[in-house]
Amino acid sequence: MARLKVAVLISGRGSNLQALIDASADPDFPAEIALVVSSQGDAGGLARARAAGIRTEVINHRAFNAKQGFEASIDATLRGARVDLVCLAGFMRILTPWFVERWRDRLVNIHPSLLPAFKGLDTHERVLAAGARFTGCTVHFVRPEMDEGPIIIQAAVPVMPDDDAETLAARVLAAEHRCYPLAVCLIAQGRIRVRNERVEIAGALAPAEVMMFNPVG
Ligand code: GAR
Repeated sequence: MARLKVAVLISGRGSNLQALIDASADPDFPAEIALVVSSQGDAGGLARARAAGIRTEVINHRAFNAKQGFEASIDATLRGARVDLVCLAGFMRILTPWFVERWRDRLVNIHPSLLPAFKGLDTHERVLAAGARFTGCTVHFVRPEMDEGPIIIQAAVPVMPDDDAETLAARVLAAEHRCYPLAVCLIAQGRIRVRNERVEIAGALAPAEVMMFNPVG
């Protein structure tokens, strides 16, 4: 069976890209990473893509006078590669409604919080400042408003009493690396449908247990 063709858009180290590359190395995984586009020429994720033999493109916004030209170039590159799905993975440019609507329900993002809580930057610092007992990560379809859109997969991660932003980020990142391949797998299997701005998952089961974080045992 033909695998879903995926492009991954990055700006940095690309550890989520690596998780997707690793998952797609399994011939039974229903998606392949066909293209990696970076907004930064020195992004660490580019080396990961090249090591896996994946085509890479660098499209830097500074090379364009206006955002429209930058996004039109990304759009043309994605269309030229005939990709079916675009994954934002640490892509640090905010996309305009024009681009988001062109890729509606074929554009997904990962964010390091349990959306709709803690949108935006410095997520882990704000989770700690709020004293939240749980945080997590979210894979969602992209909508024009930042970090908004129908939720596909979430994982909850406990906040430990001695956490700092770095230790918490590392715990959340490990969950991200499990969630992103799972979300892409479900989309590639055709099991995801957006209805009334909510995601329905065909064949979804209730989890065997619900977790409660009890810090004293
Ligand atoms: C990830 O933690 C991702 O959730 C976050 O950037 C990091 C990228 O790491 N994205 C956002 O904050 C988007 N709002 P990576 O380059 O190692 O995948």
